[in-house]
Amino acid sequence: MSDLKIIGIASGKGGVGKTTISANLAVALADAGNRVMLFDGDLGLANAQLALGIKVDYNFSHVISGEKTLSEIVVRGPSDIYVVPGASGIGKMADLGEAELQGMIQSFSEFKEPLDYLIVDAAAGISLAVITFLKACHQTLIVVRDEPSSIADAYGIIKVLVTEQNYTQLSLIPNGVPDQRSGELLHRRLNAVCLKFLNLELGYTYSIESDEMITEAARKYLPVMKHAPGSSAARDFRKLAKEVVTFPPQQGASGGLQFFIERMLNTQPEVQNG
Ligand SMILES: Nc1ncnc2c1ncn2[C@@H]1O[C@H](COP(=O)(O)OP(=O)(O)OP(=O)(O)O)[C@@H](O)[C@H]1O
Ligand SMILES: [Mg+2]
Repeated sequence: MSDLKIIGIASGKGGVGKTTISANLAVALADAGNRVMLFDGDLGLANAQLALGIKVDYNFSHVISGEKTLSEIVVRGPSDIYVVPGASGIGKMADLGEAELQGMIQSFSEFKEPLDYLIVDAAAGISLAVITFLKACHQTLIVVRDEPSSIADAYGIIKVLVTEQNYTQLSLIPNGVPDQRSGELLHRRLNAVCLKFLNLELGYTYSIESDEMITEAARKYLPVMKHAPGSSAARDFRKLAKEVVTFPPQQGASGGLQFFIERMLNTQPEVQNG
């Protein structure tokens, strides 16, 4: 069995670029020779299959209901990445019966294709579903834009993960910045607050610069990695993928996909209101 690294992409505020980053990071990792699966944990409209131009008939809700196995709903995307289409109603995970849970675990363990990376595109904010997904990931990357509301909300989700879910390790992906230096400064500012109030050393990955080609690609339902491989955005995603590849090996990585679903099901997130 291959070692699988599971990477969650999250944000406090919506619309900051999680799906764009998840989809293009997945493609960049695949282009670098990795076997990659993208799990769409986003229940909103701007979802991963749209970003990748994939049409699907079934989604993760059909796995939960037991109508389909994971292999039956997984589709192949650009650069041959595996895509698990998202489903609404995943927030009800906690209400599922024992038989359904066993069926889901079974379905994940039956997916035999070897994988190096599972990228989880989480929804914005800190709902029960988001925390359930993130707690099943080895690494969580927080997407932030250099705007007051995005920074405040990024700090908000970081604070919840650290103080309520006992996270000791999180990294930042500044998005939509004018240049790398601005992204590094944004990280420095947020890190100073995290150090002071949460005693957390916030990691830094790489910044994605603002690039019109991302919007143009989105209009064509393509990842910018495919639409404009020579663009500055595509270059940034390749650099981000290089950073992700240097993440140290994680405990439990040899458990494969089954590890992900078991952790998801065993986790009891302590979500507090407000
Ligand atoms: N670096 C960038 N440069 C230019 N446009 C970008 C960049 N990153 C994202 N965008 C655009 O910003 C919009 C929001 O991006 P995206 O859908 O990826 O955000 P999201 O965090 O997944 O949103 P949601 O919370 O609704 O799921 C899209 O139109 C996308 O094309
Ligand atoms: Mg999204």
